[in-house]
Amino acid sequence: MAVRAVINVDVDGPRINRHLYGHFAEHLGRCVYGGFYVGEDSEIPNEGGIRLDVVEALRALDIPNLRWPGGCFADEYHWRDGIGPKDRRPVMVNTHWGGVEENNHFGTHEFMALCELLGAEPYISGNVGSGTVREMSEWVEYLTRDGDSPMARLRKANGRDEPWRVKFWGLGNEAWGCGGNMTAEHYAQEARRFGTYCRDYGDNQLYKIAAGANGTDYAWTETLMKQVGHLGCRHIRSTGFHALSVHHYTLTGPTWEEKGSATAFDTDEYYTTMAAAARMDEVLAGHAAVMDCYDPGKSVGLVLDEWGTWFDVEPGTNPGFLYQQNTLRDALVAGVHFDIFHRHADRLVMANIAQTVNVLQAMILTDPDSGALVLTPTYHVFRMNKGHQDATSLRVDFRDALPGRPVGEAKLDTLSVSASRKDGAVLVSLSNLDAGEPVDVEIDVRGGALDGAEALILTSGALQDHNTPESPSVVAPRPYDGVKVAGGTLRAHLPAHSFVTVKASL
Ligand code: AHR
Repeated sequence: MAVRAVINVDVDGPRINRHLYGHFAEHLGRCVYGGFYVGEDSEIPNEGGIRLDVVEALRALDIPNLRWPGGCFADEYHWRDGIGPKDRRPVMVNTHWGGVEENNHFGTHEFMALCELLGAEPYISGNVGSGTVREMSEWVEYLTRDGDSPMARLRKANGRDEPWRVKFWGLGNEAWGCGGNMTAEHYAQEARRFGTYCRDYGDNQLYKIAAGANGTDYAWTETLMKQVGHLGCRHIRSTGFHALSVHHYTLTGPTWEEKGSATAFDTDEYYTTMAAAARMDEVLAGHAAVMDCYDPGKSVGLVLDEWGTWFDVEPGTNPGFLYQQNTLRDALVAGVHFDIFHRHADRLVMANIAQTVNVLQAMILTDPDSGALVLTPTYHVFRMNKGHQDATSLRVDFRDALPGRPVGEAKLDTLSVSASRKDGAVLVSLSNLDAGEPVDVEIDVRGGALDGAEALILTSGALQDHNTPESPSVVAPRPYDGVKVAGGTLRAHLPAHSFVTVKASL
């Protein structure tokens, strides 16, 4: 028996902001150095030190934005250390991440060049925790001010005449923890103060994002929303912030010290991971409900600027580098997250996976010795799903109970589906999370006729399967003939632990 669902293709849901497919690159482990940036003298083909193979792979994802330089690193980063001739840039210690030396060779100009190569918008996290208002204010001036001013002059002296365009600006990171251990009340005042002096120069308008809650800390969100409410939403632009963030990772293990292996896990552990991933729905719904009380018009955005799986580091690697492999399980975690993001597209304006290269749930892993590049299963989900960017979300209503598995006291729904419409086509994403059983889905498509369905499948023999330089395509998308579209019905057979996308014209 198939699970029956309905999609009305002529009933518009909210637009799926393309920034829900955003990324995050921190000065952490081998994300920047060795990942994005190898230096101009490297044998790896590069432009100004930026790896061209990484750029090429990421361009295929249409990545909309890149958040930088942290994370926890952001609140210890002083941007003036990262400009000017490289041999004169000071060396600092990256105290958060392995205590390694940071030579500041990748700084503001290199980051902006990377964004230009990627075709992605920059999202800069400013330093509130250990920085000054003046320092942040001058960074904005350096980046975005045209004409004659102290910072514009300095930028020109460093070889860049034209100002850059920067929209997304973070007012610190995790202010409740590594970003200064502040209370919500104290941080709210700081966000207003720092935000006040981050100016809009010319027609460059900043979209300021306050550092938000840890997971389900809804009280943090309420405190920030009261600040915005007090100012009145129309004043946000000049005095406060336009959005607030939340960070929520998918953790499997019983304690922070035992997060579990990224590759060696059993079926029970797999279901625990998937149940943790599915909790994102509750987290976003909780923050959105608080925001609705203060801002029913939804003018303040919710930004999930860190999400993804967090496992134990690979044996033998630096514990401070957060390097983990990426299996089919990670791909299914990503698929479920995107379905949830699409359902919250009325409030959620951005999401950034942590992190793009070599850290946590990465798109790309690079070999530290040979430099070889591997595309992870998660990369393929981003690629298969990119048609949802800036599309109109379509509700998926189930007419039958969803299949599921018990996880602890709760039930994990093992079928997840989302859909959108763009440019005369419909894209449907379907995940069967069951580790051992296939499922059939029958979708009644109303309000328009679908034609010429093309399907792709991402699956593999085992949930633990992953890609390596020696076997780079163990988990890779393949054309799929298990989907049929006829007479207004879309029928899909989903093998166990599979992710399928279907694109059909309207
Ligand atoms: O992504 C790794 C770290 O996780 C970030 O630096 C921090 O913001 C979060 O705790």
